[in-house]
Amino acid sequence: MGKIIVTGGAGFIGSNAVSRYLRQGHRVIVIDNLSRKGTRLNLRWLCPQGKLEFIESDVRDAEEMDRIFEHHADAELVLHLAGQVAVTCSVADAREDFEINALGSFNVLESVRKAGIDCPVLYSSTNKVYGGLEDVNVIEEEERYRLDGRPMGVSEQQPLDFHSPYGCSKGAADQYFRDYHRIYGLRTVVLRQSCIYGYRQFGVEDQGWVAWFIIAAEIGRPITIYGDGKQVRDVLFVDDLIDAYDAAAAHIDITEGRVYNIGGGPANGMSLRELLAYLTPDHKSLDCSYSDWRQGDQRAFVSDIRRAHSEFGWSPRVSTAEGIGRLQGWVAQNRELFQ
Ligand SMILES: NC(=O)c1ccc[n+]([C@@H]2O[C@H](COP(=O)([O-])OP(=O)(O)OC[C@H]3O[C@@H](n4cnc5c(N)ncnc54)[C@H](O)[C@@H]3O)[C@@H](O)[C@H]2O)c1
Repeated sequence: MGKIIVTGGAGFIGSNAVSRYLRQGHRVIVIDNLSRKGTRLNLRWLCPQGKLEFIESDVRDAEEMDRIFEHHADAELVLHLAGQVAVTCSVADAREDFEINALGSFNVLESVRKAGIDCPVLYSSTNKVYGGLEDVNVIEEEERYRLDGRPMGVSEQQPLDFHSPYGCSKGAADQYFRDYHRIYGLRTVVLRQSCIYGYRQFGVEDQGWVAWFIIAAEIGRPITIYGDGKQVRDVLFVDDLIDAYDAAAAHIDITEGRVYNIGGGPANGMSLRELLAYLTPDHKSLDCSYSDWRQGDQRAFVSDIRRAHSEFGWSPRVSTAEGIGRLQGWVAQNRELFQ
């Protein structure tokens, strides 16, 4: 069993990935500055699961990254997940967002390059790199918006159009990861993720609305909907995302230097209103209010995920109904974590 480095490994996606790798017997090196709420809880949960080495460190510290990657140059997989993840925070402090997402990712790439690391290096990018989709007509229906003429969703052919400081900083890193394959031969893969939900998502409301709504419904917390609630996203359960990481790494001869949309796809597209109706069929039990649209919020985004399927055989396996059920069950069993 080999060594895996996960930056941001104490966060939501990271802790789910690290748990899987520890249970498979890998030695996992987690680099995280613990800035995100819930990260200490995640670490406490991960520690007994296997051979975990935690390094409390910041990806903005280039020298420290050099030292860590040099020391662990025998890694067999690198997942770069550390990041500032909220659009709202990026608007409030664009410099910090830039330094974490753009410069921090650049530091990781440089450290991997200098250490001569030859394994798959995966980057968790975002569908926000496609921006507001101004060239796509959006049709308003009763409970949701729909992308006109894109029944399979938005593909990787869609022109890049970075919106918001978060879109710019993630997009810059997305392009650096691609380019470090072209120029330096690093075995990088860019995964443009949609809205991911699942266990251990302790975030604030704009870091994952599916989990936020489910937790709110379970523990009786109020919900604010920004805009009319008809905005649509394709949602993906976290276990499916980690399957995509594994499959992309296993097919690195095909995937290196490539970008892939990774989301629930058209079968798992859902509006906020539809999720609310699903969670509260009686429309009574949720304390729900409406507020203004948030800057840069897409009316509809659904990923076309056919490239990932055709090039490395991945497609989601957990349906929205099943994923919501799993998360509801987990929240109900772990209510104390949300107090
Ligand atoms: N969750 C989603 O729906 C989604 C969608 C698209 C892309 N992504 C990307 O996936 C990655 C993981 O997201 P997540 O949802 O698990 O978020 P998260 O906030 O739970 O995880 C990010 C982790 O990075 C750490 N971190 C933040 N700044 C750091 C720094 N300067 N140095 C070291 N560690 C730092 C945090 O403490 C946290 O543990 C992010 O890069 C995010 O942009 C997530």
